[in-house]
Amino acid sequence: MTTPTIELKPSAHPLAAAEREAILASPGFGRHFTDHMVTIKWTEGRGWHDGQLVPYAPIPLDPATNVLHYAQEIFEGLKAYRQPDGSVATFRPDQNAKRFQRSARRLAMPELPVETFVEACDALVRQDQDWVPAHGGEESLYLRPFMIATEVGLGVKPANEYLFIVIASPAGAYFPGGVKPVSIWVSEDRVRAVPGGMGDAKTGGNYAASLLAQAEAAAKGCDQVCYLDAVEHQWVEELGGMNLYFVYGNKIVTPTLTGSILEGVTRDSLLAVARDLGYESEEGRVSAAQWQRDAENGTLTEVFACGTAAVITPVGTVKRASAEWKQSGSEPGEVTLRLRQALLDIQRGTAADQHGWMHKI
Ligand code: COI
Repeated sequence: MTTPTIELKPSAHPLAAAEREAILASPGFGRHFTDHMVTIKWTEGRGWHDGQLVPYAPIPLDPATNVLHYAQEIFEGLKAYRQPDGSVATFRPDQNAKRFQRSARRLAMPELPVETFVEACDALVRQDQDWVPAHGGEESLYLRPFMIATEVGLGVKPANEYLFIVIASPAGAYFPGGVKPVSIWVSEDRVRAVPGGMGDAKTGGNYAASLLAQAEAAAKGCDQVCYLDAVEHQWVEELGGMNLYFVYGNKIVTPTLTGSILEGVTRDSLLAVARDLGYESEEGRVSAAQWQRDAENGTLTEVFACGTAAVITPVGTVKRASAEWKQSGSEPGEVTLRLRQALLDIQRGTAADQHGWMHKI
């Protein structure tokens, strides 16, 4: 694989400092973007080329561009955190790079070398470092690397041209309520992914497929939808954009990766962080019926969702067509909060990085 260098062509007109500071004071999620983006092209026969850091701008696309019709697209999400000494570090970017390669394979796209993925993220953060929020708060700089098929034509086939882009967005809490328990609708008739499908790839189609079920969850008064497996319709898989953890006293359990569940970087990190804190952690199967039974008999003490954007978010009320139960009261559980704090302490540089997860820019 070729590894292109990234040519710097910075903006002559970055946003004024006062306007940027006003955005950083209350960034929300995914609403504002930094001054630059990185783009790298891939062409059949030539490989990766023309890596550039350029001003953030719309990308012109022919109406017959392949991705607009057949959704050959993949993406990632990772965050850059301001460290106590003012420097900036990203969290496990190599893991996102490797998942990006797995997603590319699944969607018949070219694989970007891990070091090019990481260098593209580094170059953008380095250039737009003033956009990384201050140390210590909930805020960070969310990076969104993605790749689209750019061949023009309506033939259904792997494209012969692609564009990789990284953009960045200052991010506060993903859920407007902050670290408050969210309510879950367990969908019984809609599935997110099927065996042999692309549930373990991070591709826009999985998120498009989740929108109707998410709207149905909202109509039932719930914040998020939870999917069951597509065959037996009983095994808990994941939420629309987050993995799930079940807390049984001193043990945390997350659904085993079956091929239809996205392998979250936060999910994986928590298996280790939990052990560091003295909890047992494991992968296993949990059915919706078991969830209700164990919540009601008190053995299932907490449930939380996790992901890069949402970090760790506690689950409160759970509803399905035939039942409704309370997983927790209005406050997050003790284990949920401890794990959340331990993970954030590593990411913010206030705890020892004993796994070597932080990548200094
Ligand atoms: C993330 O947590 O980074 C995600 O990709 C979830 C969502 C914002 C799409």
